[in-house]
Amino acid sequence: MSGLSHWQLDGSAPELYERYLVPAITAKWAADLVERAGIRPEEKVLDVACGTGIVARLASLRTGSGHVTGLDLNQGMLSVARKASGGDGAIEFIDGSALDLPFAAVTFDVVLCQLGLQFFPDQGMALREMRRVLLPGGRLAVSVYSPIERTPGAHAFVEALDRVLGSDASLIKRGEHSFGAPGELEELLFNAAFESVRVDTVVQGIAFPSVLDYVRFQLLATPMAGLLDGRPESERQALIDRVASEVADTSDPAMLAGGVFSFPQEAYVGTALAPG
Ligand SMILES: C[S@@+](CC[C@H](N)C(=O)[O-])C[C@H]1O[C@@H](n2cnc3c(N)ncnc32)[C@H](O)[C@@H]1O
Repeated sequence: MSGLSHWQLDGSAPELYERYLVPAITAKWAADLVERAGIRPEEKVLDVACGTGIVARLASLRTGSGHVTGLDLNQGMLSVARKASGGDGAIEFIDGSALDLPFAAVTFDVVLCQLGLQFFPDQGMALREMRRVLLPGGRLAVSVYSPIERTPGAHAFVEALDRVLGSDASLIKRGEHSFGAPGELEELLFNAAFESVRVDTVVQGIAFPSVLDYVRFQLLATPMAGLLDGRPESERQALIDRVASEVADTSDPAMLAGGVFSFPQEAYVGTALAPG
């Protein structure tokens, strides 16, 4: 497996998320989501669960400066989002919960929510909030991962994690994949009184320079970092190496061709309209 000497490993989890996981994974989904939403110049756009702001930044390229708001409840993610967007106020980043959006009704042309819905304790309430803040006929675009077995790299990772760190170790990662079928997202959107609901199953090709890179950044740049907290550096490194070896041993050789770790990643991407 290749080393990581060219990657800077210092920094907080949100900084590492922005530096490594966004370009490899979420930027691809963001380009697709923004395209599906058909964002036009000067439209008002809200990015719910914006994280470090990749969706908001791509949306802002289409609307122009001053039209996009990002919202998240994680201060660390918001502070990286502000830095990554240039810190010039072109995008406003707000601390808040998806369950209680701090905006007046009938405010936005477009609401986007990428890979966040699965974490919300009340998904119906969050979607009703998104509908409330949309203008009549306003557009929603929302994505969630499909079952983890449908994304072989992530599946090999959680199986390895459980073998190395115990059977609860992968709960956070498995939780990202809690939607079992496109119909579950469709039903939530209908129940939140959206119209013209459509959910597509979409696949992106994901590639990391090596298995070790993939495992390391899953374990350092996401909430899974808590699994390694408090352990000496030598033990953390040994655990990362063990998980990476297990992932390599159990992955289809085609996923490891040329030393690169590559696999298809699947998500359900929903679009819908607020009642006109
Ligand atoms: C996997 S990240 C996705 C971030 C970003 N949308 C992206 O695609 O890179 C999930 C984000 O959801 C946020 N989140 C979780 N629960 C939330 C809630 N109730 N309200 C607002 N944001 C929430 C987390 O803080 C995190 O930044």
